[in-house]
Amino acid sequence: MSAVLTARELTRHYEVSRGLFKPHALVRALNGVSFELEAGRTLAVVGESGCGKSTLARALTLIEEPSSGSLQIAGREVAGASKEDRRQLRRDVQMVFQNPYASLNPRQKVGDQLAEPLSINTGLSRVERREQVQAMMQQVGLRPEHFQRYPHMFSGGQRQRIALARAMMLNPKVLVADEPTSALDVSIQAQVLNLFMDLQERYNTGYVFISHNLAVVRHVANDVLVMYLGRPVEMGPSALIYERPLHPYTRALLSATPAIHPDPAKPKIKIAGELPNPLNPPSGCAFHKRCPYATERCKVEVPELRLLDARQVACHNVEDING
Ligand SMILES: Nc1ncnc2c1ncn2[C@@H]1O[C@H](COP(=O)(O)OP(=O)(O)OP(=O)(O)O)[C@@H](O)[C@H]1O
Ligand SMILES: [Mg+2]
Repeated sequence: MSAVLTARELTRHYEVSRGLFKPHALVRALNGVSFELEAGRTLAVVGESGCGKSTLARALTLIEEPSSGSLQIAGREVAGASKEDRRQLRRDVQMVFQNPYASLNPRQKVGDQLAEPLSINTGLSRVERREQVQAMMQQVGLRPEHFQRYPHMFSGGQRQRIALARAMMLNPKVLVADEPTSALDVSIQAQVLNLFMDLQERYNTGYVFISHNLAVVRHVANDVLVMYLGRPVEMGPSALIYERPLHPYTRALLSATPAIHPDPAKPKIKIAGELPNPLNPPSGCAFHKRCPYATERCKVEVPELRLLDARQVACHNVEDING
């Protein structure tokens, strides 16, 4: 199998103003993320608000240039690609946002919005485009008469179906979905998640599925990447990570999600305090101030990702904690 998306040490830093006459500060929103995604597979990216999930999404979808690192889409390097190659690469990675209303044009009929990628990128006739749009509308559970309607005439769930249909129109290799169900009513979240999975099966698309909620991605993810302050802290097969999380941060995130059958033998870990200020991150392990297991070493030395128990984990004391 070959990777549809390969990220190597991706970083994205933002210079932010601290006021007049003060030197600019640097936010390391994304600080060295590497992974590989294969066709038809789903990588879930999870972590608290501000850990860099959307920054990663923007880098993967070529909305923003990374500050450093490399990105390959279906084996082709993005950095240094020609204008024409870049156009093709942009087609290959599509994005679905949290708020579907913001990504749809309120003044254009839904059918025309779905046909637009086809008119820009293919030589299909008007009739052929309409046929393809109607086939896609059917696949996402919309009816033919919806073609003529405007986005405000739909419910939130239907709008997310439209946004998903639009993203899939050109059969992209990769779909990046940033909190695609968080704005939806709980009762329809599962339906929309199922639709994502149906389309993935049909088109064999690679998904990067972003959520702050580990419970949401549990049933869709093949692999999980847990981020903390711009860095991966644990990454590996989802079955393993949900069953036996090793990093204290992953364990805390999982204890915070309500379990259907809580295991009384497993003590809950609470994360104390808030996410540190990204302008002034803690020394050593960025998590040490909130970690119940932190030692002197954690205050000074940044833990690197290392292979342990079939997943990667960045923690100095992980053997002692889980021993
Ligand atoms: N354009 C920007 N300029 C300056 N700082 C930015 C910019 N975009 C993001 N950041 C900072 O980078 C960090 C990561 O932000 P990001 O939006 O990627 O987080 P997130 O994980 O998506 O959070 P959420 O769950 O709230 O969506 C934050 O500290 C944010 O303030
Ligand atoms: Mg975000």
